Amino acid sequence: MEEKAELGLGTKCVHAGEMIDRATGSIVTPVYQNATFLYPYGIDENGNYTDEKAPYFYTRLGNPTVRAFEKKLSALEGTDDAVAFSSGMAAISTAVMELIGEKGHMLSVRDIYGGTHSLFAGVLPRHGHEVTFFNRTKTRFLDDMLRDNTKAVYVETPTNPTLDIYDIKEIFDFAHEHGLATIIDNTFPTPVNMQPASIGADVIIHSATKYLSGHSDVIAGVVAGKQEYVDRIREMMTVLGGSMEPFTAFLTERGMKTLELRVRKSNENAMAIADFLSEHRRISKVLYPGLESHEGHEIAARLMTGFGGVLSFELRGRKEEARKVMKKMKIAKVAASLGGVESLVTIPADTSHRQLSAEALKERGISDTLIRMSVGIEDEEDIIEDVGQALEP
Ligand SMILES: Cc1ncc(COP(=O)(O)O)c(C=O)c1O
Repeated sequence: MEEKAELGLGTKCVHAGEMIDRATGSIVTPVYQNATFLYPYGIDENGNYTDEKAPYFYTRLGNPTVRAFEKKLSALEGTDDAVAFSSGMAAISTAVMELIGEKGHMLSVRDIYGGTHSLFAGVLPRHGHEVTFFNRTKTRFLDDMLRDNTKAVYVETPTNPTLDIYDIKEIFDFAHEHGLATIIDNTFPTPVNMQPASIGADVIIHSATKYLSGHSDVIAGVVAGKQEYVDRIREMMTVLGGSMEPFTAFLTERGMKTLELRVRKSNENAMAIADFLSEHRRISKVLYPGLESHEGHEIAARLMTGFGGVLSFELRGRKEEARKVMKKMKIAKVAASLGGVESLVTIPADTSHRQLSAEALKERGISDTLIRMSVGIEDEEDIIEDVGQALEP
């Protein structure tokens, strides 16, 4: 359906990108689970080739089910276009390699997802690229980090798992003054809680494995952004080959129909749990940008329309006790992902950030008893009760 600027986000979640199948009238985008299409000819009703060129050719280069997902995401992010990937990491690696070019240099926030950190601190330098990391206290000194070959700035906010908030407006303004491309991983906020294109992001990346698909049943990624960037990244994707499967696109696009409802409910639940944990004697700190006590609260309130469904809390005691608390939870499951309908808990030092050295974990405040919770859409009272009983000695 044709998008109008004034449509609300919930309406776009349901309708944007959706194609009505002309052959059958199906109101749901069909799953075109095929590798190849008739090309360069069309076909008439008698099965004879015609000279009418078909729009698709080979699924790695494009597929109608995948296209529906791409259009929905770009409508939600308010960007010109989007390109889908087989995973969040495929999206990040392809986009960054394209944007920094040969022997390029990039500035990146320090507190990024562990897999992204392995790419930036390990793989890219091994292939002749350079990445300089900065933390929140260093954003005023970005000038000093610029080099002749600096091509882009990469941001994740709120960060995983310490929920630090970066002022992306300030960072993106700086980047544009210096002709750098601005890249953001918007997996945590989702377009429901933050729309980075309106704050100056050129390229927006998601692990669609998380909130976009929302049901912990796919691995998927996507890059949205200005046309010029998406075209370049799509070209790179078709060569590197990290394309999205049609059935994954179907599940992800279907999940996104309820994105707004799910994210708002997770926001509310996370806020309630953060309040509950803040008062709990066994908890030494709660990291959630919705709390007024959080260092980044004021910036988050300015840039975001919701504080998200992820929070972290530190248990007084030892790692064994933190593990015991997690295992006692009956509703929240102990697992590493996030952004699904179900609540999940994990110790990031064991899972998402296990690649970091002990020193790097310490520097980032990721202790052995720091538990990250991805709060699902269950009833608020049930999750609070579950977390409460798990914390009973
Ligand atoms: C913020 C963030 N970005 C990217 C990724 C990587 O995405 P994927 O696992 O879909 O490759 C993750 C995975 O946990 C993540 O949390």
